[in-house]
Amino acid sequence: MKFFVSFVMCLLLLNGFTTAQNLILDSCKKASARDAQLKLDFCVQSLESDPQSKAATTLEGLVIASAKSAASKTISVKGTIQRILNDKKASAGIEMILRDCVELYGDATDSINEALTSVPSGDYDTVKVNLSAALDAPANCEDGFMEKRHQKSPFANEGNICRLKILIPLAFTNML
Ligand SMILES: *[C@@H]1O[C@H](CO)[C@@H](O)[C@H](O)[C@H]1NC(C)=O
Repeated sequence: MKFFVSFVMCLLLLNGFTTAQNLILDSCKKASARDAQLKLDFCVQSLESDPQSKAATTLEGLVIASAKSAASKTISVKGTIQRILNDKKASAGIEMILRDCVELYGDATDSINEALTSVPSGDYDTVKVNLSAALDAPANCEDGFMEKRHQKSPFANEGNICRLKILIPLAFTNML
């Protein structure tokens, strides 16, 4: 009997692990099939490297974890831009555009945090509005560089990764 109980517990535990693993893969597959901008590999790698996303057991849990991870990324891009601003040589002639970008990324962090407050109540429309607003920040920042300097920003790659990280919780919210 004791043996049997242990055996069943073991099976349940194993089953729990598989479910968590499949949640990320299944959700990313569905999201990337619906939105060509979101690549399956990027989605899976991004979530697998985040402990809270790995621990999520529901799609709603994944929305929360991936939104938090995206918010961290907006803060880290803002930090990158501030470091460039502090460097007189690197920021010469582009201070204004950089300052606009600092504000855009700051607003994006606020929008994602506001989106997070609407998840528990199931107000997914507001979640989508707030995440969509955040999603525009990296592109609007790049547009500033293109329009005024006819070149990419010095942090274009990081900005693009940030954009894709915001796209993940938005795509998942569309599946709820
Ligand atoms: C979030 O969405 C709500 C509802 O549309 C809106 O009123 C609010 O201004 C948004 N907040 C942010 C920070 O984008």
